Amino acid sequence: MPKDTLSITDNRTGQSYEVPVADGTIKAMDLRQVRVSEDDFGLMTYDPAFMNTAACRSAITYIDGDRGILRYRGYPIEELADRASFLEVAYLLSEGELPTQAQLDKWTSDIRYHTYVHTNIIRFLEGFRYDAHPMGMLLGVVGALSTFYPDAKEMHDPANRYIQRVRLMAKIPTLAAFVFRQTRGLPYQFPRNDLDYIGNYVNMTFSIGGQHKPNPVLQRALEILLILHADHEQNCSTSAVRAVGSSGVDPFSAISAGIAALYGPLHGGANEAVLRMLDEIGDKSSIPAFIEKVKSGEGRLMGFGHRVYKSYDPRAKLIKRVADQVFAETGLNPKLEIAVELERIALSDEYFIKRKLYPNVDFYSGLIYQAMGYPTEYFTVLFALGRMPGWLAQWEEMLQDKEQKIARPRQIYTGEDQREFVEIGKRK
Ligand code: ACO
Repeated sequence: MPKDTLSITDNRTGQSYEVPVADGTIKAMDLRQVRVSEDDFGLMTYDPAFMNTAACRSAITYIDGDRGILRYRGYPIEELADRASFLEVAYLLSEGELPTQAQLDKWTSDIRYHTYVHTNIIRFLEGFRYDAHPMGMLLGVVGALSTFYPDAKEMHDPANRYIQRVRLMAKIPTLAAFVFRQTRGLPYQFPRNDLDYIGNYVNMTFSIGGQHKPNPVLQRALEILLILHADHEQNCSTSAVRAVGSSGVDPFSAISAGIAALYGPLHGGANEAVLRMLDEIGDKSSIPAFIEKVKSGEGRLMGFGHRVYKSYDPRAKLIKRVADQVFAETGLNPKLEIAVELERIALSDEYFIKRKLYPNVDFYSGLIYQAMGYPTEYFTVLFALGRMPGWLAQWEEMLQDKEQKIARPRQIYTGEDQREFVEIGKRK
């Protein structure tokens, strides 16, 4: 009868150990007993960038990277993108189930009630330089919100956590729209609570002189993009939210750490980087030379490759469909042609095939955002808007998980051994 254990023989000592295997993992702490001597600290695992380490149990998002599967709470992303609203998905991620009509009504009205932000936030925004990056501003003002809600520190109270989740969901569109207006030098447009979540955000962003004619196709396209971005299990920004949140800090501070992580070009900032790359390529005829540059190690093909998806990114497929709907409405973006050709060439090139590099969520999203009227440096803010429910659900799950403690990785020290202090005049 096979046993769910792993036998380990330490060839340094000849000792054998048997450790339990559960859920396809062994517990790293079970290795601590493997020692060469009494005063040995015990065996650790070394896993830079967490390539093969599960840091939590999670019931939120399931990804099968080899088969290109993404599900939120068991529901395939394709169905949610087709049939759900963003607030329904946010509720699903946070509460674990799709809401009944009554639950959705309450969730929607709770969020609607909290859309305003303290007007001092406007003064903070005005303090940024004229050319400040929108993500820098967003992470600053989300972090600053913690100072307006000192009650957010009462994290052991589930009812309090619910209010903070509602506040963050409600205020992120307002903050994102204010950031947009700031970059354009436009007066701020306050929330309109007669509009739905997406409609209100778009109105705050684009309305001029209090007027904005909504385009239902573009609004639904934006809603689908937000749904596709809503969660992606233990990625860099979510891990940042969990790690920072594990210190017991308030959720505004923990989420601003997530926004900081998302800002990076290898993560959420990739959608911005794709557009810059398409600008740099400039013309279809320059694609082969660009691909050669990437293959020789000079830069990367932005919007391609993923740590977990090794067949295709299911979100990229859905986004391509959204792109067709959006471009039918707005007219073709000339860069789309370059992107389609770039994808075609890359997908038939041995370099990319061998490394299992496929378009990811960011490859086409930037082109869509641009067609909707958002400037390139603003794209990642839209990603943050979409990712908010995921960060909040993961934060909540982390706090409820009895196995979690403050996140604190180990290291292998590679520095100097103890040495004597040298006075400044004697240093070489
Ligand atoms: N273009 C060219 N080569 C690439 C690319 C790329 N986009 N991505 C990976 N590679 C190559 C690497 O050079 C490496 O080649 P080697 O084995 O010859 O050294 C191999 O593929 C494996 O790459 P890793 O960096 O080990 O893959 P990892 O899983 O660490 O990286 C990542 C994943 C960061 C997404 C990477 O593919 C990348 O940089 N892509 C471009 C940026 C991007 O689009 N990021 C968005 C990701 S999706 C998101 O965050 C929402």
